[in-house]
Order: sequence, then C-alpha cells, then structure tokens
Amino acid sequence: MPKAELHLHIEGTFEPELMFEIAKRNDIQIPFKSVEEIQKAYNFDCLQNFLDIYYQGAGVLIYENDFYDLTYSYLEKCAQQNVLHTEIMFDPQTHTQRGINFEIVINGISKACDDAEIKLGVSSLLIMSYLRHLPEESAFTTLEQSLPFKDKIKAIGLDSSEKGNPPSKFKNVFKASVKEGYIPLAHAGEEGDANYVWEAIDILKIKRIDHGNNSLQDPKLIQEIIDRDVALTVCPLSNTSLQVVSDLKDHPLKKMMDLGLKVTVNSDDPAYFGGQLNQNYIEIQKALQLSKKDLYELAKNSFKYSLLEGTSKQKYLKILEDYYRNSS
Ligand code: ADE
Ligand code: ZN
Repeated sequence: MPKAELHLHIEGTFEPELMFEIAKRNDIQIPFKSVEEIQKAYNFDCLQNFLDIYYQGAGVLIYENDFYDLTYSYLEKCAQQNVLHTEIMFDPQTHTQRGINFEIVINGISKACDDAEIKLGVSSLLIMSYLRHLPEESAFTTLEQSLPFKDKIKAIGLDSSEKGNPPSKFKNVFKASVKEGYIPLAHAGEEGDANYVWEAIDILKIKRIDHGNNSLQDPKLIQEIIDRDVALTVCPLSNTSLQVVSDLKDHPLKKMMDLGLKVTVNSDDPAYFGGQLNQNYIEIQKALQLSKKDLYELAKNSFKYSLLEGTSKQKYLKILEDYYRNSS
C-alpha cells in the first residue's frame, strides 16, 4: 500500500551491519563483537534503557558520508516498502555534543534525501529534534546553529527521556523556533502522563503528537485533540519493545481510531524495535484484526497529516485512493 512515515528517528535506523562497517572505517571500538551480540543487547525494559544504547550506537557517526550512508540506507528501505514520503527526525545534539559540527550532520542527511528523491522517487523532509534531557539553553544553541540551513528543515521536534522533562521546559525555545518558521511537533504521552500531552498542545502548540498513548487517560484531552484536528503518530512495535504496551493485542490503536482520534502507524527506531514500517502494519493488523478499511484510513492519515503542502499532498492522496479502489 502506498503510504508515508511520519515518526522516524534517523539514528534509530542504524542496522548492526552498517554500524560495524562505519565503526571499522572510522577506527572506533564498539562494545560488541558480532551482529548477534548487538541484537542480544536490544532487549529493553523502558525508554531510558533503550536511549542509552541508541546514543552509544550514534557515536560511530563522524563524517558527512556516514550520515549520508545511514540516511540513504533507510530511504532504500522506504522504496522497497512503497513508502512514498517520509518525515525524518534527527537529533543534532547527539552529535554536536561529541564535537561533530551541525553542518556535517545536516549536509550528510539532506544530500541523501535529495539523491533518494531523484533516484528512488521517495520524498522527504526533515524534523530537527531537541533532546529534552538537556537544558533549554542547549536547544537554543541548536536553533542558532540551524539557521544557515533553515531551507533544509521543515519542523522541530522534542524527544529523548520524557519523564521529568515536561514540554513546558522548552516553552521559550519552541516560541523562538516557530518565529523562525519551523513547525512545532513533540513526543508526548509515551511514558509521560496526559499532563505532558496537555502541555505539548497548550504551551508548545504542537501540530502533531508523537506517540500520545497516554492521552487516553483523560476524556477531556481526547476531545480537545479531536477538536484541534491534531494527529497521533503511533508506533506499535516501539511500544511493545519499550514496554509502553505489554502485548500488541492490548495496543490502544484501534480504540484511538474508534474514539475519533486521527492516527498513523510508524516505525520510530526500526533497527532497534524489530521491524520496518510494513512490519508494523502487518503485526498491528494481525493483533487487532484491522480491516482493509482501517488500513486504508491509517495510510490516508499518513498523507493527510504529513507536513506536505497543496498539490504534493493531493497527488499522494490520489495515488492511494486509486490503489484502494483497484484493490477492493
Ligand atoms: N528517541 C528515539 N526514539 C525515541 C522515542 N521512542 N522516544 C523518545 N525519544 C526517542
Ligand atoms: Zn520517537
């Protein structure tokens, strides 16, 4: 099915094989001897436990071509899965904190996106995500660093350790980022409670909620999200891997849809959570017995709530509609 991916961290697409290859060429030691050993370590009991390993993996990325290879490899997987459009998050601070220039990161990623659009026919745009475990000043520095590359960045996000780092901590930097023309998005309600989602929509004024699972704790919040027509980018296999949901059969995705929330399916960090986007669709369909119509709605939302504008959004919606009509 033609579809878009709206919640994807490029650092989370780092497959063990590519990690070994890049570590070797950059002469960096990683604490694993084999792909199997890496895969064994991908056994998480919470978000923080995953993040520790995720930041460690990103540590082998040094040069522009490392960021290029990482991104292009993900975009090839998009092409193989009929993902026509993707909105890619990247975490500049994960790299600038280790002494890698912002320019290296953005140039490597955006060159891969440009090439993939031409060679693979996959369109993409970039979401610069602030790390919420760091102080707001650090996000301000990142905002400053991004300004010469503003034309390559569509939106800002907020990710990393949620509990203890509420959206209100980033009120000022979000306001300043919006002033610069960036669209505000944020992770909220993954491990944090419904109050985190309230703050994200009221204080940061986000246009899309990444995850949002815990919105279901508060009926008033559910109604507010529906009224504002804000979509939730839900990540089924991420939720089971990080034990946000204990079993896919208990996943709230269908309940969200039935309540009238606008939901999309996404892979989040596919190299770490056991499946690319198609696998997320396949497994959640099986677990919740989703109908063809449900799947169509999910894919339709992925284009409708993308950050694409005007004709390109309409073009993709038409491709999907034609596909659905011919297959049912
Ligand atoms: N960074 C990468 N994946 C993330 C997730 N699922 N939640 C918060 N921060 C992240
Ligand atoms: Zn995420």
